[in-house]
Amino acid sequence: MAEITLRVNGSEKQVSVAPETPLLWVLRDTLELTGTKFGCGAGLCGACTVHLDGNAVRSCSTPVSQAAGRSVTTIEGLSASEGLPAGQLHVLQAAWIAEEVPQCGYCQTGQIMSAAALLAKTPNPTDDQINESMNGNLCRCGTYERIRKAIHWAANASSKARREIAEEEIQSDAQDNGGAR
Ligand code: FES
Ligand code: FES
Repeated sequence: MAEITLRVNGSEKQVSVAPETPLLWVLRDTLELTGTKFGCGAGLCGACTVHLDGNAVRSCSTPVSQAAGRSVTTIEGLSASEGLPAGQLHVLQAAWIAEEVPQCGYCQTGQIMSAAALLAKTPNPTDDQINESMNGNLCRCGTYERIRKAIHWAANASSKARREIAEEEIQSDAQDNGGAR
């Protein structure tokens, strides 16, 4: 066991775990941040993707000791990492809803985290750049085409106004769906 301090979604956390424990299990089991998913456990599927100092990493194959003293962002802290107030969607989350990307949804946390890392470095990616960057994020439901569309949507939706319009549309859809039940 070791005492390891890391910064998770902007807050300093100290955990008492074996240093080789995968970061994924510290996030999910110790810190109860269950938005990050376990898929293959071998660095092959991308379901467990988080940001470590802004770079997309596979948390299932990253020992927590590698995150000591560094900054980890999970899906729970993605919008806040860009300075958005609590409850406001990250532009990629709005895009995912607008383009109705998820099917079963299991892979989508990892997809969004990889897409966010891509857009941070390449704000207007081409299809080829998206394909290359997202290559390691697998989706058994085959949502790849919608993921590409949503990334383009987000790239084009950089203005706050567009994001707010999207959120209004989402709220209005939610009310319509609620009324239909
Ligand atoms: S669970 Fe980490 S890459 Fe598959
Ligand atoms: S939405 Fe089902 S695995 Fe991707």
